Amino acid sequence: NLVSSSSSTRYDDHIPLRETNEEEDVHFPKNFLFGTASSAYQYEGAYLSDGKTLSNWDVFTNITGKIADGSHGKVAVDHYHRYPEDLDLMEDLGVNSYRFSLSWARILPKGRFGDMNMEGIYHYNRVIDAILKRGIEPFVTLTHYDIPQELEYRYGSWLNPQIREDFEHYAEICFRYFGNRVKFWSTFNEPNVQVILGYRKGTYPPSRCSKTVGNCTRGDSEIEPLVAAHNIIRSHLAAVSIYRTKYQEQQRGKIGIVMNAIWFEPVSDALADRLAAERAQAFYLTCENCRFLDPVVFGRYPREMQEIFGEDLPQFTKDDLKSSKNGLDFIGINQYTSRYAKDCLHSACEPGQGGSRAEGFVNANALKDGLALGEPTGVDWFNVYPQGMEEMLMYATERYKNIPLYVTENGFGENNTGVLVNDYRRVKYMSSYLDALKRAMRKGADIRGYFTWSLLDNFEWISGYTIRFGLYHVDFNTLERTPRLSASWYKNFIFQHRAQS
Ligand code: NOJ
Repeated sequence: NLVSSSSSTRYDDHIPLRETNEEEDVHFPKNFLFGTASSAYQYEGAYLSDGKTLSNWDVFTNITGKIADGSHGKVAVDHYHRYPEDLDLMEDLGVNSYRFSLSWARILPKGRFGDMNMEGIYHYNRVIDAILKRGIEPFVTLTHYDIPQELEYRYGSWLNPQIREDFEHYAEICFRYFGNRVKFWSTFNEPNVQVILGYRKGTYPPSRCSKTVGNCTRGDSEIEPLVAAHNIIRSHLAAVSIYRTKYQEQQRGKIGIVMNAIWFEPVSDALADRLAAERAQAFYLTCENCRFLDPVVFGRYPREMQEIFGEDLPQFTKDDLKSSKNGLDFIGINQYTSRYAKDCLHSACEPGQGGSRAEGFVNANALKDGLALGEPTGVDWFNVYPQGMEEMLMYATERYKNIPLYVTENGFGENNTGVLVNDYRRVKYMSSYLDALKRAMRKGADIRGYFTWSLLDNFEWISGYTIRFGLYHVDFNTLERTPRLSASWYKNFIFQHRAQS
């Protein structure tokens, strides 16, 4: 039974597994999307232009001490005004898709409590038209962490079931105005990260955190992440249901969700550590203590979660369940890094290193011989382990029955060390991760696109402008864009691989 099976179950019978042949290069399917990815808050700037009001990130970045370099996204890389120039850079790279997000606060400054902002609609109409004019396919995220602050003030955003009505209203406006030209929709970007950092660790807005984790500024129950996740899942299902019933047939698009997908390797061969890695995998992909994908694909939370949380686990209504059938056309995988997992149930972990009740007390940041998995990059959360890309894609393929996958983000972040153009470490990273992606394709994973994060250096959330991810360097004083080595490398990669198809 797929629905109630445990996280360790693998569904090999669904997969057309093939022998890999390293000799033979992969032929990417004809419509494979090669792109770059961005998000509204990290790129746009223009934070109060043309009728937009404050988002939760505008308010959060204004609080002293939240962002490493004290910066914010008021201007960011000014993509709001410079998008034609940036789209020219994409056209020159030869990408055939651009993944970006819409700013909810630009379209509905006060959520469903106020009018739609037509200036916001016109802006995105112009952007979408400019993308299509260059032969590029828009791949649109509805929510990439930022929401109108109004929804936080009024009713506590994701902790309140009301938000589903707001999200539904917003999603429908987007389908209605843009759906004739947008054929790829993602409802949420990395809701697992949004919930862990916003409601458990408290480092992202709305800065809430659980009693079980240190560093809390406000003590909140362990239950909040479950509630926030549940409201996100219900909002996703509501948007999908509207799309399916009113728009999809006519507009012929696809709708999915994007998850942050860290791969976990057991720190030793011991059975307990192998099981710990499986638990870490299952719970992380789905937000540590709130699985996202199982309810959306299978219609309910998995049995382990029901056992662990009992009555604390929110319930789906009959309506939710109806719309959860077939609640995804694809999964977006953001894959950057991997970690060791160690069992903390049967052997002692360092104090403070154990995971949560739902993780089955896994230390998902364990060290082996004092080292983390993969090669360090200098950025604390981030090691280079290309094999994790292959493992992750196969895991998602097997667990979710060969569903179409898009690698919606992968890229190399570097501390602001002054690397202007010679980013050979980024080139090496991308090349090895794309090799891993090809291996997964050879094994039968249905991968339909790859988006690198990112075209430009940009606002990296709580790290501000201290970490750079761009194929193009951005001078944050002049906003000048300068191509790095990785831009020409990616251009060449796309040229070679698109030519084959
Ligand atoms: C994933 C997030 O979606 C994106 O916003 C962020 O900049 C990258 N990871 C890099 O950390």
